[in-house]
Amino acid sequence: MNQGGQKMRLLILGATGQVGWQLVQQAPPRVEVIPVARQGTAVTLDLEDLDAISPLLKTLRPDVVINAAAYTAVDQAEQETERAQRINSTAVGLLAATMAELGGLLIHYSTDYVFAGNQSLPYRETDAPAPLNAYGYTKWLGEQAIARHHPAHLILRTSWVYDLRGKNFLRTMVRLAQTRPLVRVVADQIGTPTAAPFIAQVTYQLLEHWQATPSLSGLYHLTPRGSTSWYGFAAKIFDHLRAKGYAAATLEAIPSSEYPTRAKRPAFSTLNCEKLETVLGTPLPPWEAVLEPLLQQLDPQSVL
Ligand SMILES: NC(=O)c1ccc[n+]([C@@H]2O[C@H](COP(=O)([O-])OP(=O)(O)OC[C@H]3O[C@@H](n4cnc5c(N)ncnc54)[C@H](OP(=O)(O)O)[C@@H]3O)[C@@H](O)[C@H]2O)c1
Repeated sequence: MNQGGQKMRLLILGATGQVGWQLVQQAPPRVEVIPVARQGTAVTLDLEDLDAISPLLKTLRPDVVINAAAYTAVDQAEQETERAQRINSTAVGLLAATMAELGGLLIHYSTDYVFAGNQSLPYRETDAPAPLNAYGYTKWLGEQAIARHHPAHLILRTSWVYDLRGKNFLRTMVRLAQTRPLVRVVADQIGTPTAAPFIAQVTYQLLEHWQATPSLSGLYHLTPRGSTSWYGFAAKIFDHLRAKGYAAATLEAIPSSEYPTRAKRPAFSTLNCEKLETVLGTPLPPWEAVLEPLLQQLDPQSVL
């Protein structure tokens, strides 16, 4: 409920993406949800159409905007940097400035790729970003644009997002395990796999805390506990497939130097989430415990 006793009006941008989709599915019953995507929703918005952002928000007058839309093609962003910057930063600044005028909360997601990855302890919110790639840089600019324009914000940095739907590492590995004899996966990038349903669930927990304490704002790291390499993540998936009686390819650990990509990635981007755990009053689960129920729901043939 908002202060007028009406249902809270919640606008979810990026409603067809991994996180946005889960936010729509898990929306609390006493909230009026307006899902917004580039296409396929009753209300549409292309964040590249900068002139459309403020008028749409002013027409709909949401109490809360959750921005799960982003330019997320990490390698492509090296070549399409201007476009990535328009979506991940300029548009985000306009969202923030408009919510400042309307007086509502802006929840926004950012990434572990804002960090350079050259430290060995999990990154805290107070550690200085130094992105290695264009995507990380544009996401960092987006964070700064929000902080500049609108104090009533929650910026949630997450990492290695996957789900049973969408384009992600989990689904790619399940497909490759069943279609290739050998799958080679990098073992020298360390981070934390984070399921989209988990991100949505924690986001709504945090929103509840904000409703009780509207002064709650700022930057929070949001992943499960623990960390692994992409190889370690793949190994869990392959083990699960074999345990369920599916044939899975041989999995080989390789260094990043043997899997060149256009964008550089941090060698270590584990996030310390103690600040969020303190607000929630409970420890976050280990990444394996978040992955397990999704694997149990997985139909390996659905990705072929
Ligand atoms: N994926 C990861 O591993 C990861 C890691 C760390 C942080 N994050 C952050 O987490 C948040 C959610 O990511 P995700 O994994 O859910 O991403 P995703 O599955 O790629 O979804 C992103 C959504 O943004 C939409 N979008 C892209 N350009 C747009 C535009 N110009 N106008 C309107 N919508 C646009 C896409 O729409 P279309 O479907 O029309 O393309 C898509 O629905 C993002 O802020 C991302 O930066 C993601």
